[in-house]
Amino acid sequence: MRYTTQFMISALSAEQFPEPSVGEIAFLGRSNVGKSSLLNNLVGDKAARVSSTPGRTRAINFFALLDQGQRRKLIFADLPGYGYAKISRSISAEWPKFIEPYLGERATLALCVCLVDTNIPPQESDTMLITALRQMQRPHIVVGTKSDRLGGNQLAKSLAVLKKAHGEERILAVSSKTENGVKALWPEILGVLPG
Ligand code: GTP
Ligand code: MG
Repeated sequence: MRYTTQFMISALSAEQFPEPSVGEIAFLGRSNVGKSSLLNNLVGDKAARVSSTPGRTRAINFFALLDQGQRRKLIFADLPGYGYAKISRSISAEWPKFIEPYLGERATLALCVCLVDTNIPPQESDTMLITALRQMQRPHIVVGTKSDRLGGNQLAKSLAVLKKAHGEERILAVSSKTENGVKALWPEILGVLPG
């Protein structure tokens, strides 16, 4: 995809969200699952900050994707990871208060990309998020990250277990390290955008 990425804002409250414009794609998942890495990989850029310290992304970081005529075509939203706080397991308790308004009310939100780690067993916090998105009738796809760490058989097994646990028919395996599966996400993303 020939887009250039333009950082918009690191929003710490709903008041700081950019004015709704083009369709938005949100990247959601537990801390350290690989949201920022996948976003960078999709745009072929180092737009979003990648860190080995879980919980680094605390704000919603908005990035505009511009076409060659510098027109804004879509927006990527890198959301803070959940599941890092050791005490509370509830998404609503762990997540900053502005995530819920974002998911519930953001009119331009076109697709939620939910990232789950293929290297660990199904996480309840992920099931909770996916279930909540279904209830909110938010279009979503589930992506299994860090697939480079598993062999073919192990990966197939992990995907089957994850699909069953999260009640999903499809989970796309991706690796931001080898870039496997990443390009296959573009049609999913472009398919939900108007026009
Ligand atoms: P938070 O912002 O803290 O919620 O994390 P995040 O979900 O944005 O994860 P991030 O992209 O920062 O990646 C976390 C760590 O996982 C980093 O050390 C990455 O290098 C590593 N990582 C991300 N994607 C992959 C992948 O596909 N394969 C492997 N092997 N490592 C990955
Ligand atoms: Mg991040």
